[in-house]
Amino acid sequence: MIKEAIIPLAGLGTRLLPFSKILPKELLPLGNKTILEHILDECLEAGIKKIILVTSKRKRIIKDYLYPDPYLLNYLKKKNDIKSIQKLKILDRYRKKIKFVYQNSPKGLGDAVLTAKSIVKEKFFLLVLPDDIIIKENCSKKMINIHNKYQSSVIASKKVNNSEVSRYGIIKYSKKINNNLFISDLVEKPSVKNSPSNYAIIGRYILPSKIFSSLKKTKKGSSGEVQITDAMKHLIYNDNKFVGHLFSGAYLDCGTVNGYNNSLKKM
Ligand code: G1P
Repeated sequence: MIKEAIIPLAGLGTRLLPFSKILPKELLPLGNKTILEHILDECLEAGIKKIILVTSKRKRIIKDYLYPDPYLLNYLKKKNDIKSIQKLKILDRYRKKIKFVYQNSPKGLGDAVLTAKSIVKEKFFLLVLPDDIIIKENCSKKMINIHNKYQSSVIASKKVNNSEVSRYGIIKYSKKINNNLFISDLVEKPSVKNSPSNYAIIGRYILPSKIFSSLKKTKKGSSGEVQITDAMKHLIYNDNKFVGHLFSGAYLDCGTVNGYNNSLKKM
């Protein structure tokens, strides 16, 4: 069973500037909740018991959002504003499940995952990227089923156009069974010419805890950052089974201004 999840939140959100200068993109609203709550709910509904939030000192506001504000609660109680109190109470359901770790300089996704190393206790864990929202299907839950079936690592995947391959990690696969690709290699943000397929990595991964030792050895890669894709490649080359799952839910790219605005229209 997969019981632990890591959610990296320490990134500077440069693709969403200037909106993300003060307000972390994860706290932007999408429908009736924030982007972060979409991700947290997906984890809880998939049976995750421990969620590790990787944040930074610059983004303390995320913790403030998830924890009670005694001043505000007192004010609402005095006014007997039960409705508003109930709106705040919705956030209480996460509290027992979340733990914070800090990555104070943005050294990449791989480095963010590495900061959670000492808290991850199980053999496999879930990694969810808040840029990628998937609605109409609990993608994490589906991937846990696939992990149980194949006893493998699992990566969410989606077919993208040629014009989009350089924005994603791309999968090379040896065979395809239904919606599952048996991965033989990965390339981080290739040019169209060097892209081994049009199947992109979308931000949901079930990874073995041995990825931590692989990450320790991983040198800075694409964008001068420690990439999770490079650490996964290392495991793939050493005969660890990785399956790419073509999910059927609707994908909302919340990592860019255009993507976020389009996502709002789809809610
Ligand atoms: C990261 C991963 C990339 C993946 C993408 C999905 O890139 O490195 O492989 O395709 O997330 O959103 P980033 O968006 O952090 O540049």
